[in-house]
Amino acid sequence: VVVEEFLNGVECSVFVATDGKNYRILPVAKDYKRIGDGDTGLNTGGMGSVSPVPFADEVFMQKVEERIVRPTIAGLISEGIDYRGIIFVGVMNVGGDPYVIEYNCRMGDPETEAVVLRIESDFLELLRRIASGRIGFYELKEDQRCVASVMLVSRGYPGNYEKGKEMEIPIPPTDTILFHAGTVMRDGKVYTNGGRVLAVSSYGSTPEAALQRSYTHARQVLYDGKNYRHDIGQDMLLLAKGDR
Ligand code: GLY
Repeated sequence: VVVEEFLNGVECSVFVATDGKNYRILPVAKDYKRIGDGDTGLNTGGMGSVSPVPFADEVFMQKVEERIVRPTIAGLISEGIDYRGIIFVGVMNVGGDPYVIEYNCRMGDPETEAVVLRIESDFLELLRRIASGRIGFYELKEDQRCVASVMLVSRGYPGNYEKGKEMEIPIPPTDTILFHAGTVMRDGKVYTNGGRVLAVSSYGSTPEAALQRSYTHARQVLYDGKNYRHDIGQDMLLLAKGDR
């Protein structure tokens, strides 16, 4: 019998880039895992993400750093583990206090489709410094804009779904970036080739603006069986307004 403390809160994803000694905490994101609006239905590989996360403010992130990130890196060092890469910490906000839900040795998907857009400094340089043990000299610069990412999926996903649907993908505006997940190009045409097809990520000066841009483009991408969640980021908008 395993007895665990019940944690009631909202989760966010914290990515720590480390060269095994020093670290940088990347912009925080929140993902949306279930297939249906209002967090209903089956779990998926991720239906969308937003960054920043309103409750992950300076005070909260200071707690994350002191209580989770530093002890984690110190633990790796004390156990002689030379870990160079990303530590993904799933963090639950329980009344303003951060609790670890899970660790992964990778970035998260679809959080990455929001997080990398919010890294204004050279991301490749960050990866080089992770590998060469020189992250201590890296100046991480965050883009202050908001990013929202909406995942387009195939009808039936995360159950059985069809592939091979021809796609019409208009060229996105400059503030929108498309991440191809389950697509394939044949004879100059793009077809669906997976359950999670395309992530539409957009910048905005506010979360609302970022969401609006991503949803506008999500509507313009066409293929038979297109499905997506319509409520990405809505809980965070309510939270930011103090309604929850
Ligand atoms: N978005 C959750 C994960 O990548 O595990």
